[in-house]
Amino acid sequence: MSSGLDDCQSDHRRNLLALYVEKNNSLLSMIDFERTPRVALEFMNREHQKAFDDANALKILLDSALDASGPVAADIENLLQTLLADTVTHFELEQQCMEEYLFPARADHYREHQRVLQWMIDEHSRWDRDHSVETITHLRRYASDEFPGWLLNHIVTMDTVMASYIHRHGGTSI
Ligand SMILES: [Fe+2]
Repeated sequence: MSSGLDDCQSDHRRNLLALYVEKNNSLLSMIDFERTPRVALEFMNREHQKAFDDANALKILLDSALDASGPVAADIENLLQTLLADTVTHFELEQQCMEEYLFPARADHYREHQRVLQWMIDEHSRWDRDHSVETITHLRRYASDEFPGWLLNHIVTMDTVMASYIHRHGGTSI
């Protein structure tokens, strides 16, 4: 399910993250994908890594935004759009998989994805309205704590159960 374009975008994201990590010399307080549990389907692990990478890169950008030498607003807007687009793809891939294998709890899982997507859209709208210090601080908490915290909990609960079921019913680790 990965393409050359995906790989290219992923490289770009990693380069961006590496650049800001180098600039800020800190990854403290972030949730590290390497330390999160894996599920039974590899495509889901790839999507989860992408989500943590996006959130971490956004957090670092927002940290910089509080400095005079921080990034321009367009960089934050681009990363918010990347996080949203990647999350839409991530959820759609899981939902296609649940439909294909008729996973029994797919309606609940789908509803949870819709709730979190709407939450992300609301956070993006907040940035569209203003770029104040209050908004930056709020979004920084979302990117560094609330969204990754939700994702970690979702991985160890709903995603683990779903991936195990599909794996047991013949789903391959694509
Ligand atoms: Fe999920």
